Amino acid sequence: MPKRFALPLSPAVAAWLDKCRWACGSKCFTDACNESENATFEAVLARRLSRRSALRGAAGVALVIALGQTGVSRVEASNRGRLTFRPITLNTEDRVTVPEGYTAGLVIRWGDPLHSWGPEFRFDAQSPEAQANQFGYNADFVGLFPLPAGSANARRGLLAVNHEYTNPELMFAGYREGDPEPWQVAVELEAHGVTIVEVARHERGEWGYLPGSRFNRRITGTTRCELTGPAAGSDWLKTSADRTGTVVYGTLNNCAGGKTPWGTLLTCEENFHQYFGNLDGLDKNDPRYAMHRRYGLPTGRSERVWERYERRFDIPTEPNEAFRFGWVVEIDPYDPTFVPKKRTALGRFKHEAATVVISRDGRVVVYSGDDERFEYVYKFVSEGRYDPKDRTKNLSLLDKGTLYVARFNDDGSGEWLPLVHGQGPLTEANGFRSQADVLVNTRRAADLLGATKMDRPEDIETNPVNGRVYIVCTNNTRRNWDQINAANPRGNNRHGHIIELSEANDDPAATRFTWDIFLLCGDPANPDDLVFAAGFDPRLISPISCPDNITFDAWGNMWIATDGQPGTFRRNDGIYAVPTSGEERGYVRMFLSGPRGCEICGPEFSPDYQTLFCAIQHPGEGGTVAQPISSWPDGTVPRPSVVATWKTTGEPRIGS
Ligand code: FEO
Ligand code: CA
Ligand code: CA
Ligand code: CA
Repeated sequence: MPKRFALPLSPAVAAWLDKCRWACGSKCFTDACNESENATFEAVLARRLSRRSALRGAAGVALVIALGQTGVSRVEASNRGRLTFRPITLNTEDRVTVPEGYTAGLVIRWGDPLHSWGPEFRFDAQSPEAQANQFGYNADFVGLFPLPAGSANARRGLLAVNHEYTNPELMFAGYREGDPEPWQVAVELEAHGVTIVEVARHERGEWGYLPGSRFNRRITGTTRCELTGPAAGSDWLKTSADRTGTVVYGTLNNCAGGKTPWGTLLTCEENFHQYFGNLDGLDKNDPRYAMHRRYGLPTGRSERVWERYERRFDIPTEPNEAFRFGWVVEIDPYDPTFVPKKRTALGRFKHEAATVVISRDGRVVVYSGDDERFEYVYKFVSEGRYDPKDRTKNLSLLDKGTLYVARFNDDGSGEWLPLVHGQGPLTEANGFRSQADVLVNTRRAADLLGATKMDRPEDIETNPVNGRVYIVCTNNTRRNWDQINAANPRGNNRHGHIIELSEANDDPAATRFTWDIFLLCGDPANPDDLVFAAGFDPRLISPISCPDNITFDAWGNMWIATDGQPGTFRRNDGIYAVPTSGEERGYVRMFLSGPRGCEICGPEFSPDYQTLFCAIQHPGEGGTVAQPISSWPDGTVPRPSVVATWKTTGEPRIGS
């Protein structure tokens, strides 16, 4: 057991911990955190801030908040993209709330059958066979791939949805904590992974899915996947079931993701550590012990106790299985026979987001965060070039290239540091014998390079209008005030922040950048929160906490989904919109609120920007089947779902 579970907990902390347990495997309560001595991002930002105008918090801590004055050329706000909806307010209602003139409708729910023959969802008669053919649990990333492939059809497409984790206490009546039944574990394995499902827009604006579409498909915790790229076949990846180190069954904890220009899904394996148990059964002198510790694998039994029935999750039995998770997985949604590929060139960590852009010379750049306290921001730059006419060739672009990790300097500059075997400290003397070693043990390599420790870098997205890169740091309450730096400028960072990064020469493949703070989230009515909104008057913005996933509309407005407001505000999570240019840059307005207990994930626009999709993940979390706090969406058991929002009056563009 993570040792901090032994501490006395207040009800609020206990409730928070309960959420953490399944979401992240209680990573913040384990000893997995980054113990390396790299300068905290906070020290850097504080120094930078101190050269700017100061704002004094009630705690007496002087903090400069004159951020966001980047002075970078700004694209004039186009009236066409102006946000004019009337913001909603934080609430605790058990429904999806949207502004006047908008409607939100269900697209698909946990358990909905993918085939024309079913299987129908039966809460009281679940089976792994049924779940493997139904929409999975805890929907996260949402990506719309238009049909036909290569078109910009805004009325028909394939929805690719991640299923990050399971809440067995909400899935099974009478679930026994720490003592699951084998059939429950088997159902949970099938409820993880990805769904590909065909969807279409109907006359009144609502969306529905098509049971029986030939594209409909589940990828689960048991689906055959291949490992590709420089680490494939390495000794670290070989197990008793796979002597080649190239075949792995299942993808787990698929959180955020991305889409490639060639029409594939990138799905990210995040908190994989929680599926493994009993690290202390491994000899401490075995090099794998330290490697697994750096990724937070539990020393005792896991919370889920899957290792009791799935022996590959028992670390002493199968010490290398955990090395086969923590990757970015590429899937072709248009090919139902496609074998998912774990792309090892992108490194192994708790991946959040895989946002793809093309560099000036045609190379593929993928941004990804490692979502844990004091972890790093990464990008991958391919060796080969994207060819819009050669999809087959594009499908191997993510197997060769250079992985970088970010260092944020206190003067607003920064560098992308290459994680290349043989360069700098990444040599045999430090335990790296090959590039495979660097990729399997990416965190340790990044430690040695002196990367900057961040406040849970989650989503990273590029703004299609100004080309800048936005890094979403969800929160970090373990950062002390004496650890702050310029890019993580608040101690006890409960509410999170967003960084705005400009690559040198506006080239995504650049190795240098400049950066600034875009948002410091919180309640503007609370001076202790030190809210900063890109220079906009913070008194006018909506309270916002724990930014998690973002997307942009065609006019450069940022849409932010949150994960944590039930803990920080005692209110439901939501979606917010904020312009990134013009006079209203920084004017944050709340657009949508989810039902009780959920987080909101995967904001995704249709190609005509008339529909905003999002995932309602873990509605009712904090309750149980016997003591529910939510009955969304059906008035029965809470069911994680994908929702579409559209306008019913006036201009059809979302936000207008
Ligand atoms: Fe799965 Fe970082 O949220
Ligand atoms: Ca997330
Ligand atoms: Ca995203
Ligand atoms: Ca999250």
